[in-house]
Parts: sequence; C-alpha cells; structure tokens
Amino acid sequence: MHIRRSDSKAIIYTVVGFALLSAGAFFVSDTVGILVSLALLLAIILTAGFNFYRMLVFRLRLQTTETHALFNIYSLLPEGVSLPAPYGWSANIHMLEYIVKKIVHSKPKLIVELGSGLSSIYIGHFLKRQGAGALICLEHDAEYAMATQNSIDEHGLGDIVTIVHAPLVMQVIKGETRQWYDTNLIPELTHIDLLIVDGPPWQTDSLARYPALSVFADALSEDAVVILDDSNRADESIIVDKWLKEYTSLSHRTLFSEKGVSVFEVGPSENS
Ligand SMILES: C[S@@+](CC[C@H](N)C(=O)[O-])C[C@H]1O[C@@H](n2cnc3c(N)ncnc32)[C@H](O)[C@@H]1O
Repeated sequence: MHIRRSDSKAIIYTVVGFALLSAGAFFVSDTVGILVSLALLLAIILTAGFNFYRMLVFRLRLQTTETHALFNIYSLLPEGVSLPAPYGWSANIHMLEYIVKKIVHSKPKLIVELGSGLSSIYIGHFLKRQGAGALICLEHDAEYAMATQNSIDEHGLGDIVTIVHAPLVMQVIKGETRQWYDTNLIPELTHIDLLIVDGPPWQTDSLARYPALSVFADALSEDAVVILDDSNRADESIIVDKWLKEYTSLSHRTLFSEKGVSVFEVGPSENS
C-alpha cells in the first residue's frame, strides 16, 4: 500500500514518542522523569491519533465525492462511449466533473488545454455530445503529443481536438525570461471560453504554469473560466496569488479535491 505524507507523519510521531519515553526511562531514573516522558508520549499519541482521524475523514470524503463525480460524468456521457480511468498524472475526477458540467451547461465554443492526456479525451467526447466546440491542446512532450493524438484518433475525436506539439523553450514573456510552450508554435486564438492549465509539469521551471495568463489573458472571452490544477502545491499557490493580484477582475474559488483545483471566473461569478 502507498504511504502518504499524512500517514508517515503519524508513524513519525509515534516513533518519536517511543524514543522519548525510552530516553526518559533510560536517562532519568526518578519518577518525575518517567511521568514527564509518559505525558509527552500521551500528547504525541493524541496528536497522531487526531491527525490520523482527520486524514481518514478526508479520504472518506474524497472517495465518496469521487464516486459521485464519476457517476455525474457517466450520467452525461452518450450511450456506448467508454472513457479511460483517470490515473496518477491525469486530471483528477473533480476537475473533470467540473469541466464536463461546464461543457454541458455553458457550451463553450473554444477550450484551450495546457498539458494533454486523458482530460483531452473526456473533453473531446463531451464537445462531440454537444455537437459544437473545439479543443486546442498544447503538449510540450513529443511522445505524449503522439500518444494523446493516437488516443484522440482511436476515439474518433480528430475533428474536435487538435494537439499542438509545442516544446518548452526559454523565451521572454511579458518582460520575464521563462521556460514555457514555444509561443511561436501556438496558433492565433481569440474568444477562449475555457482555459485549462494542467501543464507544463512543475519540475520544468519555477512557477512553471504562471505564464499561462500572461500569454492568454487578452484572448479570453468575456465570461471565460480559467482552471488551474494542483493548486494546493506550493508553486501553484503562489501562482494563484500572483494572478489574483495582476488580474483584479478575476474571482476565485477552489474545488474540493485531493490536490486542489482553482477556478477563476472572468465574468460574473457562477455563484453570484
Ligand atoms: C499533469 S499532466 C497533464 C495531464 C492531462 N491534462 C490529463 O488530464 O491527462 C502534465 C504533463 O505530464 C505529461 N504526462 C502526461 N501523462 C503522463 C504520464 N502518464 N507519465 C508522465 N508524464 C505524463 C504530459 O507531458 C503532460 O503534458
């Protein structure tokens, strides 16, 4: 079984607790020393127990809501279409559910996705269901660009989804030198209704996903929505703050999910 960070914290607390108790018993021979060690151990066990309980509650909520999201997605899927299961690198199911509902209810005409994969197939199928709309997908990695293109073709979505292979290059974007998708290879785009920022991977640069709005802000439609995946990560949290400072008309909320999904609205908020 995979041990997550929250699990390892509980294990560390317990080990440290036992180490303290043993040290107390070994070095301090009097009763006070042992009692202090026992009190420390109790505090550590209670903290670990509380953390473990919070983690269990979170996982349970995650599992229930993920199942619910999956049902929601499938309830909107045309009969006979089978979607691949989300895996480690792909967009999480909560984000996919949000996108699917957005396609069905707001009927976006142009979607741009940064980082291709399973989500591109989901989006393609739901745009096909709507009978309108296109997805332009930027992919930096030649292998993944080809793999996604093959999947798109297998699913018969070639006339809806365009994969643009745009390697990451050092370039000046709005006065800053950054490694990002080669902007020379990006087609001229306007009236983007939905911008999904799920790439480049965080390891490729500091604040790797930050340039997305510098490049596309002027191409967004009046009531566009921008989605940033993995927004609980340190870099992405900084990006959220920077975008909100720089684009003051954006409203922002976070979807419940394992790694965080930020949703920015350009026009009036969906919740208002
Ligand atoms: C977060 S992933 C994008 C995922 C995509 N939006 C999806 O939902 O499948 C960002 C980048 O990781 C790379 N990638 C995609 N699938 C991968 C995999 N299974 N293993 C390693 N890298 C992957 C691709 O280059 C992609 O652009």
